[in-house]
Amino acid sequence: MFLVYFQFYYSLLIIWSDLILEAACSQGVHDIYSPPQTVRQHVFVREEFRYLNVSRIGTYTVDDSFECTFRCLSHSSCYSVNLASSRGIEGKFWCELLSSDKNRNSTEYRGNKNSHHFVIKSPCSSSPCQNEGTCAPSYKNGMFECLCKKGFSGEFCEKAFESCKDVTNFYKSKASQLVTLYFRNWKTVSVLCRMGDFGCGDGTWTPVMKIDGNKNTFPYNSGYWTDKSEYNPSGGTTGFDSQETKLPTYWNTPFSKICLGMKVSGQLKFTVINKQASSLHSLIADGHYRATSLGRNRWIALTGRAGSSHGLQPNCNKEGFNAPTTHRRARIGILGNNENDCRTCDSGIGIGVEGRVCGSVSSFGAMCYILVQ
Ligand SMILES: *[C@@H]1O[C@H](CO)[C@@H](O)[C@H](O)[C@H]1NC(C)=O
Ligand SMILES: *[C@@H]1O[C@H](CO)[C@@H](O)[C@H](O)[C@H]1NC(C)=O
Repeated sequence: MFLVYFQFYYSLLIIWSDLILEAACSQGVHDIYSPPQTVRQHVFVREEFRYLNVSRIGTYTVDDSFECTFRCLSHSSCYSVNLASSRGIEGKFWCELLSSDKNRNSTEYRGNKNSHHFVIKSPCSSSPCQNEGTCAPSYKNGMFECLCKKGFSGEFCEKAFESCKDVTNFYKSKASQLVTLYFRNWKTVSVLCRMGDFGCGDGTWTPVMKIDGNKNTFPYNSGYWTDKSEYNPSGGTTGFDSQETKLPTYWNTPFSKICLGMKVSGQLKFTVINKQASSLHSLIADGHYRATSLGRNRWIALTGRAGSSHGLQPNCNKEGFNAPTTHRRARIGILGNNENDCRTCDSGIGIGVEGRVCGSVSSFGAMCYILVQ
């Protein structure tokens, strides 16, 4: 008889506690602050042999982890606890209530054989912030905010600024400025983003290359046209000066317009090529000819030279990326010949032209600039 009563009583207890647990599970996710206390008990995550060394709200001796986390829950400013990993005097555990968590004080969070760490399960437990963004949990509403490292944006810091346009769109800025761009599998680079019309029309222009036609850094057969390596990136932080550079924007930045600049004898001229591509590298590196249709007058105007001093002979006029003639090729440019025959071109205007790194073949060198948007 006694046994029967006992069993009955015992199974009632089990049903009763199951009910509480179920209520706990169904509510716990939505509102970790709602009573009963069992609800909040379920939102603690245990991390073994860890210790968070921040200031303590209180220290207790407790019988078990439940008592320790329960004490934390009765403090509105308690976010985590350290609990002894083994029993001490009188078979009890020490329990420290903490007013911070490992997200906020990650540098103070260390391995420790004497303690386990319990933290209120937060939306940051799943490490939702990408690209080394910091997750800032809000325990009140169960939401979180990602504090992104410079160069990233988006709810989860998943978006990288890869062009000046990304940056100015995000910050709604209308001024030319030095910004940090980030490229996947690469690193950050600072570039001077150009806003507005300096000669290539309105918009945000991202610098790509600066080439000195009187040097031999970027000749037609240079590996720089085909590879993905930078050259003197600090040249990207200055304006239309004589510092050469090749930036990671060469192989990373998509565009629909290319701005070419040429400085001849101190005179700076620009022209725009309307061309859509995933990067300048994608237009040049494979060596395939891609025609453009600026017309010879606009190439000549780019040099700023009047009369026939531009040096471009009247015939052929094959222009574009990797412009091919038997005698001469150009990475970006136009080729000309006296004879009506593209096979023997010995003149040209452009950038990376055989016989002239930048400027007009056999006539003059120039300082050249390439920007995209
Ligand atoms: C906690 O940090 C303090 C210094 O801020 C240090 O003196 C102490 O040893 C640290 N305790 C543990 C357990 O790491
Ligand atoms: C924990 O982080 C807060 C701000 O996030 C800071 O004020 C505090 O000094 C940090 N505490 C320790 C012990 O590092």
